[in-house]
Amino acid sequence: MSFEITSYSERHFTGVKALWEEVFPDDPPRDYADISIAAKTKEHPELFLLAVEEGRVVGSVMAGYDGHRGWLYRVAVVKTHRHRGVGAALIHEAEQLLWALGCVKINLQVRGANQGVTAFYQNLGYVVEDRISMGKLAPDDPLSLRPLDSSRRS
Ligand SMILES: CC(C)(COP(=O)(O)OP(=O)(O)OC[C@H]1O[C@@H](n2cnc3c(N)ncnc32)[C@H](O)[C@@H]1OP(=O)(O)O)[C@@H](O)C(=O)NCCC(=O)NCCS
Repeated sequence: MSFEITSYSERHFTGVKALWEEVFPDDPPRDYADISIAAKTKEHPELFLLAVEEGRVVGSVMAGYDGHRGWLYRVAVVKTHRHRGVGAALIHEAEQLLWALGCVKINLQVRGANQGVTAFYQNLGYVVEDRISMGKLAPDDPLSLRPLDSSRRS
């Protein structure tokens, strides 16, 4: 079977939710599909890409561009479809869209406990940089009550 890369639309919601629940079972509430997809549909929705095979969502990447840097989030492929080039195809398509927007550099974060995945990104030309990743939660957001654990962010 072959997959296609397509932009997210509402009909994919259930599939993306299932994908993320499989691949990111420890997600904090702020990253749940209903919250993060609703927000993404307001900011460069065309940068939210899926791999779909016979109507089933088998992979995702949520890219962002803030006018200075491009970012990659939610890079995920269902276990049954790994090592078939799905992840690489998603990244490649996201890169093309970001370069076309004028983006000059793409960043991403890897959780400390997931260091093995750096080989996947290095294979695609990404390099490990000497940076300390920091984050801050919105003060009045009830979803922020759970402490930010930087070792588990991606
Ligand atoms: C990382 C991930 C998206 C890769 O998806 P994929 O579709 O299997 O990747 P590809 O088939 O395009 O892989 C291309 C190459 O990258 C490398 N690679 C892929 N996954 C890798 C991994 N988990 N660790 C190390 N190298 C990996 C391999 O060299 C692979 O080539 P090969 O299949 O011939 O060995 C997938 O393993 C995944 O969803 N992991 C869990 C979620 C995750 O960690 N996401 C990243 C958050 S920062």
